[in-house]
Amino acid sequence: MKNTLDAVKSKSFSIEVFGLGYVGFPLSVRLASNGFKVRGIDINKQRIERLKNNELMDSELHLKNEFIHCRENKNLELETSPIKSEEPKIGIISVHTPIPDENIPSNKFVKEAIENFLETSKAGDMIILESSVEGGTTEEMEKIVETKGYKIGQDFGFSFCPERIDPQNKKWHLENIPRIIYCSDDTSYKIAEIIYKNVNKGHLLRVDSPRTAEVVKSFENAFRLVNISLVNELAILCDKLGISVKDVIKAAATKPFGFMPFYPGAGAGGHCIPKDPRFLLDAAKKYDLKFSTIENALQINFEIPKYICDSIQRSIEKLGLEKSVLVCGLTYKPDVEDMRDSPGFKLLNEFKKRNFKVSSYDPYFKKELLSKYLKENYLKSLDFENKNELADEDLKNISCLCIVQHHTKSKFRLMEIYEKSMVPFIYDCQSQFDEKPDSKTILDSLGS
Ligand SMILES: NC(=O)c1ccc[n+]([C@@H]2O[C@H](COP(=O)([O-])OP(=O)(O)OC[C@H]3O[C@@H](n4cnc5c(N)ncnc54)[C@H](O)[C@@H]3O)[C@@H](O)[C@H]2O)c1
Repeated sequence: MKNTLDAVKSKSFSIEVFGLGYVGFPLSVRLASNGFKVRGIDINKQRIERLKNNELMDSELHLKNEFIHCRENKNLELETSPIKSEEPKIGIISVHTPIPDENIPSNKFVKEAIENFLETSKAGDMIILESSVEGGTTEEMEKIVETKGYKIGQDFGFSFCPERIDPQNKKWHLENIPRIIYCSDDTSYKIAEIIYKNVNKGHLLRVDSPRTAEVVKSFENAFRLVNISLVNELAILCDKLGISVKDVIKAAATKPFGFMPFYPGAGAGGHCIPKDPRFLLDAAKKYDLKFSTIENALQINFEIPKYICDSIQRSIEKLGLEKSVLVCGLTYKPDVEDMRDSPGFKLLNEFKKRNFKVSSYDPYFKKELLSKYLKENYLKSLDFENKNELADEDLKNISCLCIVQHHTKSKFRLMEIYEKSMVPFIYDCQSQFDEKPDSKTILDSLGS
Protein backbone atom coordinates (compact mmCIF):
# COMPACT_ATOMS: atom_id res chain seq x y z
CA MET A 1 0.00 0.00 0.00
CA LYS A 2 3.01 2.27 0.59
CA ASN A 3 3.85 2.19 -3.16
CA THR A 4 0.23 3.04 -3.93
CA LEU A 5 0.40 6.03 -1.60
CA ASP A 6 3.53 7.26 -3.42
CA ALA A 7 1.80 6.73 -6.76
CA VAL A 8 -1.24 8.68 -5.57
CA LYS A 9 0.99 11.52 -4.38
CA SER A 10 2.59 11.73 -7.82
CA LYS A 11 -0.73 11.18 -9.63
CA SER A 12 0.65 8.07 -11.35
CA PHE A 13 -2.43 5.97 -10.67
CA SER A 14 -6.00 5.79 -11.94
CA ILE A 15 -9.47 5.87 -10.45
CA GLU A 16 -12.35 3.73 -11.66
CA VAL A 17 -15.76 5.01 -10.59
CA PHE A 18 -18.45 2.29 -10.77
CA GLY A 19 -21.97 3.67 -11.34
CA LEU A 20 -22.38 6.99 -13.14
CA GLY A 21 -25.68 7.99 -11.59
CA TYR A 22 -26.62 10.90 -9.33
CA VAL A 23 -23.64 10.18 -7.08
CA GLY A 24 -20.96 8.73 -9.37
CA PHE A 25 -21.22 11.16 -12.29
CA PRO A 26 -20.53 14.44 -10.45
CA LEU A 27 -17.82 12.68 -8.44
CA SER A 28 -16.10 11.49 -11.64
CA VAL A 29 -16.21 14.99 -13.13
CA ARG A 30 -14.86 16.55 -9.91
CA LEU A 31 -11.92 14.11 -9.71
CA ALA A 32 -11.10 14.35 -13.43
CA SER A 33 -11.29 18.15 -13.26
CA ASN A 34 -8.71 18.08 -10.51
CA GLY A 35 -6.27 16.25 -12.75
CA PHE A 36 -6.81 12.61 -11.81
CA LYS A 37 -7.09 9.94 -14.50
CA VAL A 38 -10.65 8.72 -14.11
CA ARG A 39 -12.48 5.90 -15.83
CA GLY A 40 -16.22 6.25 -15.35
CA ILE A 41 -17.84 2.82 -15.57
CA ASP A 42 -21.52 2.04 -15.92
CA ILE A 43 -23.09 -1.25 -16.96
CA ASN A 44 -25.91 0.72 -18.57
CA LYS A 45 -24.65 0.91 -22.17
CA GLN A 46 -27.21 3.54 -23.14
CA ARG A 47 -26.06 5.81 -20.32
CA ILE A 48 -22.45 5.50 -21.53
CA GLU A 49 -23.51 6.18 -25.14
CA ARG A 50 -25.52 9.23 -24.12
CA LEU A 51 -22.62 10.58 -22.06
CA LYS A 52 -20.23 10.01 -24.97
CA ASN A 53 -22.61 12.17 -27.03
CA ASN A 54 -22.52 14.80 -24.25
CA GLU A 55 -26.19 14.12 -23.42
CA LEU A 56 -26.47 14.91 -19.74
CA MET A 57 -29.45 14.73 -17.38
CA ASP A 58 -31.09 18.07 -16.51
CA SER A 59 -29.55 18.04 -13.04
CA GLU A 60 -26.08 17.57 -14.57
CA LEU A 61 -26.19 20.41 -17.09
CA HIS A 62 -24.26 22.76 -14.81
CA LEU A 63 -21.32 20.33 -15.14
CA LYS A 64 -21.44 20.19 -18.94
CA ASN A 65 -18.48 22.49 -19.74
CA GLU A 66 -16.33 20.86 -17.08
CA PHE A 67 -17.35 17.41 -18.33
CA ILE A 68 -16.53 18.22 -21.97
CA HIS A 69 -13.18 19.69 -20.92
CA CYS A 70 -12.31 16.52 -18.95
CA ARG A 71 -13.28 14.37 -21.93
CA GLU A 72 -11.16 16.49 -24.28
CA ASN A 73 -8.06 16.40 -22.11
CA LYS A 74 -8.60 12.63 -21.69
CA ASN A 75 -8.82 12.78 -17.89
CA LEU A 76 -12.26 11.20 -18.05
CA GLU A 77 -12.87 8.02 -20.02
CA LEU A 78 -16.26 6.36 -20.21
CA GLU A 79 -16.52 2.58 -20.27
CA THR A 80 -18.82 -0.31 -19.47
CA SER A 81 -16.10 -2.32 -17.74
CA PRO A 82 -12.76 -1.81 -15.96
CA ILE A 83 -9.36 -2.48 -17.51
CA LYS A 84 -6.03 -3.86 -16.29
CA SER A 85 -3.33 -1.34 -15.53
CA GLU A 86 0.30 -1.50 -14.39
CA GLU A 87 -0.24 1.53 -12.20
CA PRO A 88 -2.21 1.28 -8.96
CA LYS A 89 -6.00 1.58 -9.26
CA ILE A 90 -8.56 2.91 -6.82
CA GLY A 91 -12.10 1.63 -7.41
CA ILE A 92 -14.86 3.90 -6.12
CA ILE A 93 -18.23 2.14 -5.85
CA SER A 94 -21.27 4.39 -6.21
CA VAL A 95 -23.90 2.01 -7.58
CA HIS A 96 -27.50 1.97 -6.38
CA THR A 97 -28.60 -0.08 -3.36
CA PRO A 98 -32.35 -0.68 -3.72
CA ILE A 99 -34.80 -1.68 -1.01
CA PRO A 100 -34.23 -5.43 -0.87
CA ASP A 101 -36.96 -7.78 -2.06
CA GLU A 102 -37.13 -11.53 -2.49
CA ASN A 103 -35.36 -11.27 -5.89
CA ILE A 104 -32.81 -8.53 -5.34
CA PRO A 105 -30.74 -8.13 -2.18
CA SER A 106 -29.85 -4.48 -1.54
CA ASN A 107 -26.12 -5.12 -2.02
CA LYS A 108 -26.47 -7.01 -5.31
CA PHE A 109 -25.01 -4.19 -7.44
CA VAL A 110 -22.30 -3.32 -4.91
CA LYS A 111 -21.14 -6.93 -4.87
CA GLU A 112 -21.20 -7.18 -8.67
CA ALA A 113 -19.22 -3.95 -9.08
CA ILE A 114 -16.61 -5.06 -6.56
CA GLU A 115 -16.28 -8.49 -8.18
CA ASN A 116 -15.95 -6.74 -11.52
CA PHE A 117 -13.19 -4.46 -10.16
CA LEU A 118 -11.38 -7.47 -8.69
CA GLU A 119 -11.21 -9.13 -12.13
CA THR A 120 -8.67 -6.52 -13.24
CA SER A 121 -7.07 -5.47 -9.95
CA LYS A 122 -3.80 -6.45 -8.33
CA ALA A 123 -1.98 -6.16 -4.99
CA GLY A 124 -1.74 -2.53 -3.85
CA ASP A 125 -5.12 -1.51 -5.27
CA MET A 126 -7.88 -0.10 -3.11
CA ILE A 127 -11.68 0.06 -3.00
CA ILE A 128 -13.67 2.99 -1.65
CA LEU A 129 -17.34 2.18 -1.14
CA GLU A 130 -19.62 5.25 -1.35
CA SER A 131 -23.04 3.60 -1.77
CA SER A 132 -25.38 3.55 1.25
CA VAL A 133 -25.30 -0.04 2.44
CA GLU A 134 -26.82 -2.46 4.92
CA GLY A 135 -24.93 -3.05 8.16
CA GLY A 136 -22.16 -5.60 7.76
CA THR A 137 -21.67 -4.97 4.02
CA THR A 138 -18.21 -3.43 4.33
CA GLU A 139 -16.85 -6.45 6.21
CA GLU A 140 -18.64 -8.79 3.79
CA MET A 141 -17.01 -7.01 0.82
CA GLU A 142 -13.59 -7.08 2.51
CA LYS A 143 -14.00 -10.85 2.79
CA ILE A 144 -14.76 -11.08 -0.92
CA VAL A 145 -11.49 -9.23 -1.62
CA GLU A 146 -9.62 -11.66 0.64
CA THR A 147 -11.02 -14.66 -1.26
CA LYS A 148 -8.87 -13.42 -4.17
CA GLY A 149 -5.76 -13.94 -2.06
CA TYR A 150 -5.22 -10.35 -0.87
CA LYS A 151 -4.79 -9.34 2.76
CA ILE A 152 -6.96 -6.32 3.58
CA GLY A 153 -4.93 -3.53 5.16
CA GLN A 154 -1.66 -5.04 3.98
CA ASP A 155 -1.69 -5.46 0.20
CA PHE A 156 -5.21 -4.20 -0.53
CA GLY A 157 -6.98 -1.17 0.95
CA PHE A 158 -10.66 -0.88 1.74
CA SER A 159 -12.66 2.14 2.78
CA PHE A 160 -16.31 3.02 3.33
CA CYS A 161 -17.05 6.71 2.78
CA PRO A 162 -20.80 7.12 2.29
CA GLU A 163 -22.01 9.95 0.07
CA ARG A 164 -24.24 12.48 1.84
CA ILE A 165 -25.30 14.62 -1.12
CA ASP A 166 -28.64 16.46 -0.97
CA PRO A 167 -29.63 17.23 -4.59
CA GLN A 168 -30.38 20.91 -5.27
CA ASN A 169 -29.08 22.02 -1.89
CA LYS A 170 -27.31 25.26 -2.85
CA LYS A 171 -25.48 25.66 0.45
CA TRP A 172 -24.24 22.12 1.03
CA HIS A 173 -22.91 20.18 -1.94
CA LEU A 174 -20.27 17.67 -3.03
CA GLU A 175 -17.43 20.13 -2.49
CA ASN A 176 -18.23 21.16 1.08
CA ILE A 177 -20.22 18.37 2.76
CA PRO A 178 -17.96 16.73 5.38
CA ARG A 179 -17.73 12.95 5.21
CA ILE A 180 -17.32 10.17 7.65
CA ILE A 181 -14.88 7.49 6.61
CA TYR A 182 -13.74 4.07 7.70
CA CYS A 183 -10.38 2.84 6.38
CA SER A 184 -8.86 -0.60 6.79
CA ASP A 185 -5.40 0.84 7.62
CA ASP A 186 -3.48 4.10 8.01
CA THR A 187 -1.92 4.06 4.56
CA SER A 188 -5.34 3.62 2.93
CA TYR A 189 -6.56 6.57 5.01
CA LYS A 190 -3.67 8.70 3.71
CA ILE A 191 -4.65 7.72 0.16
CA ALA A 192 -8.28 8.58 0.84
CA GLU A 193 -7.25 11.93 2.33
CA ILE A 194 -5.48 12.88 -0.92
CA ILE A 195 -8.46 11.83 -3.02
CA TYR A 196 -11.05 13.62 -0.89
CA LYS A 197 -8.89 16.75 -0.73
CA ASN A 198 -9.93 16.96 -4.37
CA VAL A 199 -13.59 16.30 -3.64
CA ASN A 200 -14.57 18.07 -0.40
CA LYS A 201 -11.29 19.69 0.62
CA GLY A 202 -10.56 16.60 2.72
CA HIS A 203 -13.22 17.22 5.38
CA LEU A 204 -13.14 13.68 6.74
CA LEU A 205 -13.97 12.27 10.12
CA ARG A 206 -12.36 8.86 10.47
CA VAL A 207 -14.22 6.24 12.47
CA ASP A 208 -12.57 3.01 13.60
CA SER A 209 -15.26 0.53 12.74
CA PRO A 210 -17.01 -0.06 9.41
CA ARG A 211 -20.21 -0.80 11.39
CA THR A 212 -20.05 2.67 12.93
CA ALA A 213 -19.78 4.31 9.51
CA GLU A 214 -22.65 2.19 8.16
CA VAL A 215 -24.90 2.98 11.11
CA VAL A 216 -24.05 6.71 10.95
CA LYS A 217 -25.25 6.88 7.33
CA SER A 218 -28.50 5.00 8.00
CA PHE A 219 -29.11 6.93 11.23
CA GLU A 220 -28.78 10.30 9.48
CA ASN A 221 -31.49 9.32 7.03
CA ALA A 222 -33.61 7.74 9.79
CA PHE A 223 -33.41 11.08 11.62
CA ARG A 224 -34.87 12.83 8.58
CA LEU A 225 -37.52 10.21 7.98
CA VAL A 226 -38.67 10.27 11.60
CA ASN A 227 -38.85 14.07 11.65
CA ILE A 228 -40.70 14.24 8.35
CA SER A 229 -43.22 11.72 9.65
CA LEU A 230 -43.46 13.60 12.96
CA VAL A 231 -44.31 16.87 11.22
CA ASN A 232 -46.76 15.12 8.88
CA GLU A 233 -48.58 13.58 11.82
CA LEU A 234 -48.60 16.98 13.50
CA ALA A 235 -50.10 18.42 10.28
CA ILE A 236 -52.93 15.86 10.49
CA LEU A 237 -53.61 16.93 14.09
CA CYS A 238 -53.52 20.63 13.08
CA ASP A 239 -56.15 19.83 10.40
CA LYS A 240 -58.44 18.56 13.16
CA LEU A 241 -57.62 21.42 15.54
CA GLY A 242 -58.22 24.00 12.82
CA ILE A 243 -54.82 25.63 13.34
CA SER A 244 -51.94 26.09 10.93
CA VAL A 245 -48.99 23.72 11.14
CA LYS A 246 -46.89 26.41 9.48
CA ASP A 247 -47.64 28.78 12.38
CA VAL A 248 -46.73 26.08 14.87
CA ILE A 249 -43.40 25.32 13.17
CA LYS A 250 -42.54 29.01 12.76
CA ALA A 251 -43.17 29.67 16.44
CA ALA A 252 -41.37 26.52 17.63
CA ALA A 253 -38.35 27.42 15.48
CA THR A 254 -37.77 30.53 17.61
CA LYS A 255 -36.43 28.21 20.30
CA PRO A 256 -32.69 28.64 19.88
CA PHE A 257 -31.75 25.09 20.93
CA GLY A 258 -33.15 21.58 20.77
CA PHE A 259 -35.50 22.18 17.83
CA MET A 260 -35.00 21.82 14.10
CA PRO A 261 -37.81 22.72 11.70
CA PHE A 262 -39.14 20.12 9.25
CA TYR A 263 -42.06 20.89 6.93
CA PRO A 264 -45.13 18.88 5.91
CA GLY A 265 -45.55 17.25 2.52
CA ALA A 266 -46.93 14.19 0.78
CA GLY A 267 -44.15 12.05 2.24
CA ALA A 268 -40.43 11.38 1.97
CA GLY A 269 -39.38 9.80 -1.33
CA GLY A 270 -36.26 9.24 -3.40
CA HIS A 271 -33.53 6.64 -3.24
CA CYS A 272 -32.37 7.42 0.32
CA ILE A 273 -34.74 8.63 3.05
CA PRO A 274 -37.42 5.91 2.84
CA LYS A 275 -34.79 3.23 2.19
CA ASP A 276 -31.71 3.63 4.37
CA PRO A 277 -33.57 3.59 7.74
CA ARG A 278 -34.74 0.06 6.82
CA PHE A 279 -31.12 -1.04 7.17
CA LEU A 280 -31.35 -0.20 10.89
CA LEU A 281 -34.67 -2.02 11.15
CA ASP A 282 -33.12 -5.11 9.59
CA ALA A 283 -30.10 -4.88 11.87
CA ALA A 284 -32.39 -4.63 14.92
CA LYS A 285 -34.44 -7.65 13.78
CA LYS A 286 -31.32 -9.81 13.88
CA TYR A 287 -31.21 -9.19 17.65
CA ASP A 288 -34.96 -9.62 18.13
CA LEU A 289 -35.26 -5.88 18.63
CA LYS A 290 -38.01 -3.66 17.25
CA PHE A 291 -36.84 -0.27 16.09
CA SER A 292 -40.38 0.98 16.54
CA THR A 293 -39.61 4.68 15.92
CA ILE A 294 -38.47 3.81 12.42
CA GLU A 295 -41.29 1.30 11.91
CA ASN A 296 -43.85 3.94 12.87
CA ALA A 297 -42.20 6.60 10.72
CA LEU A 298 -42.26 4.31 7.68
CA GLN A 299 -45.92 3.51 8.35
CA ILE A 300 -46.86 7.21 8.58
CA ASN A 301 -44.87 7.89 5.42
CA PHE A 302 -46.83 5.12 3.71
CA GLU A 303 -50.19 6.45 4.89
CA ILE A 304 -49.82 10.17 4.23
CA PRO A 305 -50.79 9.97 0.50
CA LYS A 306 -53.94 8.09 1.54
CA TYR A 307 -54.75 10.77 4.10
CA ILE A 308 -54.34 13.45 1.40
CA CYS A 309 -56.61 11.49 -0.99
CA ASP A 310 -59.22 11.14 1.76
CA SER A 311 -59.15 14.90 2.41
CA ILE A 312 -59.44 15.74 -1.28
CA GLN A 313 -62.18 13.18 -1.89
CA ARG A 314 -64.21 14.50 1.06
CA SER A 315 -63.93 18.10 -0.17
CA ILE A 316 -64.78 17.15 -3.75
CA GLU A 317 -67.89 15.30 -2.60
CA LYS A 318 -68.87 18.19 -0.32
CA LEU A 319 -68.44 20.68 -3.17
CA GLY A 320 -70.38 18.44 -5.57
CA LEU A 321 -67.47 18.33 -8.05
CA GLU A 322 -66.49 15.62 -10.51
CA LYS A 323 -63.82 13.19 -9.39
CA SER A 324 -60.95 14.58 -11.50
CA VAL A 325 -57.58 15.57 -10.16
CA LEU A 326 -54.37 16.93 -11.63
CA VAL A 327 -51.34 15.94 -9.57
CA CYS A 328 -48.64 18.64 -9.80
CA GLY A 329 -45.11 17.37 -9.21
CA LEU A 330 -44.07 13.76 -9.73
CA THR A 331 -40.45 14.02 -8.67
CA TYR A 332 -39.60 13.14 -5.08
CA LYS A 333 -38.51 16.70 -4.27
CA PRO A 334 -38.66 20.10 -6.00
CA ASP A 335 -36.34 21.01 -8.88
CA VAL A 336 -34.91 17.53 -9.46
CA GLU A 337 -35.72 15.09 -12.24
CA ASP A 338 -35.51 12.01 -9.97
CA MET A 339 -38.89 10.21 -9.70
CA ARG A 340 -37.80 7.28 -7.52
CA ASP A 341 -40.24 6.22 -4.80
CA SER A 342 -42.13 9.44 -5.26
CA PRO A 343 -45.26 10.56 -3.36
CA GLY A 344 -46.71 11.96 -6.61
CA PHE A 345 -46.95 8.45 -8.05
CA LYS A 346 -48.47 7.11 -4.83
CA LEU A 347 -51.14 9.82 -5.07
CA LEU A 348 -51.87 9.12 -8.76
CA ASN A 349 -52.22 5.43 -7.97
CA GLU A 350 -54.45 6.03 -4.95
CA PHE A 351 -56.73 8.42 -6.87
CA LYS A 352 -56.93 5.91 -9.71
CA LYS A 353 -58.03 3.17 -7.28
CA ARG A 354 -60.82 5.50 -6.17
CA ASN A 355 -61.97 5.94 -9.78
CA PHE A 356 -60.78 9.51 -10.15
CA LYS A 357 -59.86 10.85 -13.58
CA VAL A 358 -56.15 11.47 -13.09
CA SER A 359 -53.52 13.44 -14.95
CA SER A 360 -50.32 15.17 -13.92
CA TYR A 361 -48.23 18.26 -14.52
CA ASP A 362 -44.48 17.97 -14.11
CA PRO A 363 -41.98 19.77 -16.36
CA TYR A 364 -39.34 17.12 -15.51
CA PHE A 365 -41.43 14.17 -16.71
CA LYS A 366 -40.10 12.42 -19.84
CA LYS A 367 -42.72 10.35 -21.63
CA GLU A 368 -40.15 7.91 -23.00
CA LEU A 369 -39.06 7.03 -19.43
CA LEU A 370 -42.55 6.03 -18.22
CA SER A 371 -41.74 2.33 -17.78
CA LYS A 372 -38.60 3.27 -15.79
CA TYR A 373 -40.65 5.60 -13.56
CA LEU A 374 -43.25 2.87 -12.95
CA LYS A 375 -40.56 0.37 -12.00
CA GLU A 376 -38.91 2.89 -9.69
CA ASN A 377 -42.29 3.38 -8.00
CA TYR A 378 -43.08 -0.34 -7.67
CA LEU A 379 -46.03 -0.04 -10.07
CA LYS A 380 -46.92 -2.57 -12.77
CA SER A 381 -49.05 -0.11 -14.72
CA LEU A 382 -50.66 3.29 -14.34
CA ASP A 383 -52.68 5.00 -16.99
CA PHE A 384 -52.38 8.79 -16.92
CA GLU A 385 -51.28 11.68 -19.08
CA ASN A 386 -48.61 14.13 -18.00
CA LYS A 387 -48.30 17.72 -19.21
CA ASN A 388 -44.86 19.33 -19.20
CA GLU A 389 -46.56 22.68 -19.58
CA LEU A 390 -50.05 23.49 -18.41
CA ALA A 391 -52.22 25.30 -20.97
CA ASP A 392 -55.53 26.86 -19.96
CA GLU A 393 -57.40 24.20 -21.92
CA ASP A 394 -55.69 21.44 -19.89
CA LEU A 395 -57.57 22.73 -16.88
CA LYS A 396 -60.99 22.11 -18.40
CA ASN A 397 -62.92 19.55 -16.34
CA ILE A 398 -60.26 19.49 -13.62
CA SER A 399 -61.86 19.73 -10.18
CA CYS A 400 -58.71 19.75 -8.10
CA LEU A 401 -55.04 20.61 -8.43
CA CYS A 402 -53.16 18.54 -5.92
CA ILE A 403 -49.78 20.29 -5.54
CA VAL A 404 -47.14 17.84 -4.42
CA GLN A 405 -43.97 19.76 -5.42
CA HIS A 406 -43.53 23.49 -5.98
CA HIS A 407 -40.85 23.35 -8.70
CA THR A 408 -39.25 26.68 -9.57
CA LYS A 409 -40.29 25.91 -13.17
CA SER A 410 -43.97 25.47 -12.28
CA LYS A 411 -44.73 27.56 -9.20
CA PHE A 412 -45.58 30.79 -11.06
CA ARG A 413 -48.04 28.98 -13.28
CA LEU A 414 -49.62 27.29 -10.26
CA MET A 415 -49.93 30.63 -8.46
CA GLU A 416 -51.48 32.17 -11.59
CA ILE A 417 -54.05 29.36 -11.72
CA TYR A 418 -54.94 30.07 -8.10
CA GLU A 419 -55.03 33.85 -8.47
CA LYS A 420 -57.14 33.68 -11.62
CA SER A 421 -59.47 31.08 -10.06
CA MET A 422 -58.92 28.73 -12.99
CA VAL A 423 -59.90 25.54 -11.12
CA PRO A 424 -62.54 25.12 -8.39
CA PHE A 425 -60.23 23.57 -5.77
CA ILE A 426 -56.53 23.43 -4.93
CA TYR A 427 -54.97 21.17 -2.31
CA ASP A 428 -51.41 22.17 -1.38
CA CYS A 429 -49.55 19.23 0.18
CA GLN A 430 -46.63 21.47 1.17
CA SER A 431 -48.73 24.27 2.66
CA GLN A 432 -46.82 26.87 0.65
CA PHE A 433 -49.71 28.90 -0.73
CA ASP A 434 -51.23 31.63 1.41
CA GLU A 435 -54.98 32.36 1.15
CA LYS A 436 -55.82 34.96 -1.53
CA PRO A 437 -59.15 36.51 -0.58
CA ASP A 438 -59.71 37.59 -4.22
CA SER A 439 -59.50 34.05 -5.57
CA LYS A 440 -62.69 32.07 -5.98
CA THR A 441 -60.69 28.84 -5.88
CA ILE A 442 -61.07 26.99 -2.61
CA LEU A 443 -57.63 26.39 -1.09
CA ASP A 444 -56.91 23.64 1.36
CA SER A 445 -53.47 22.61 2.62
CA LEU A 446 -52.02 19.77 4.61
CA GLY A 447 -52.06 21.02 8.19
CA SER A 448 -54.16 24.13 7.90
N1 LIG B 1 -29.12 10.11 -5.16
C1 LIG B 1 -28.78 10.69 -4.04
O1 LIG B 1 -29.15 11.83 -3.77
C2 LIG B 1 -27.90 9.97 -3.02
C3 LIG B 1 -27.40 10.69 -1.92
C4 LIG B 1 -26.57 10.05 -1.00
C5 LIG B 1 -26.29 8.69 -1.15
N2 LIG B 1 -26.82 8.01 -2.23
C6 LIG B 1 -26.48 6.59 -2.34
O2 LIG B 1 -25.51 6.45 -3.39
C7 LIG B 1 -25.73 5.24 -4.12
C8 LIG B 1 -25.92 5.55 -5.59
O3 LIG B 1 -27.15 6.27 -5.73
P1 LIG B 1 -27.52 7.01 -7.08
O4 LIG B 1 -28.70 7.86 -6.76
O5 LIG B 1 -26.32 7.65 -7.69
O6 LIG B 1 -27.96 5.76 -7.99
P2 LIG B 1 -28.27 5.79 -9.56
O7 LIG B 1 -29.31 4.77 -9.77
O8 LIG B 1 -28.51 7.19 -10.01
O9 LIG B 1 -26.91 5.32 -10.22
C9 LIG B 1 -26.41 4.04 -10.08
C10 LIG B 1 -25.72 3.66 -11.38
O10 LIG B 1 -24.98 2.46 -11.15
C11 LIG B 1 -25.01 1.70 -12.35
N3 LIG B 1 -24.58 0.34 -12.01
C12 LIG B 1 -25.28 -0.67 -11.42
N4 LIG B 1 -24.52 -1.75 -11.26
C13 LIG B 1 -23.29 -1.44 -11.74
C14 LIG B 1 -22.08 -2.14 -11.84
N5 LIG B 1 -21.94 -3.39 -11.41
N6 LIG B 1 -21.03 -1.52 -12.43
C15 LIG B 1 -21.13 -0.26 -12.87
N7 LIG B 1 -22.26 0.46 -12.80
C16 LIG B 1 -23.33 -0.12 -12.23
C17 LIG B 1 -26.42 1.86 -12.83
O11 LIG B 1 -26.54 1.55 -14.20
C18 LIG B 1 -26.68 3.34 -12.52
O12 LIG B 1 -26.38 4.16 -13.63
C19 LIG B 1 -26.91 4.54 -3.45
O13 LIG B 1 -26.45 3.65 -2.49
C20 LIG B 1 -27.64 5.71 -2.77
O14 LIG B 1 -28.42 5.28 -1.67
C21 LIG B 1 -27.59 8.63 -3.16
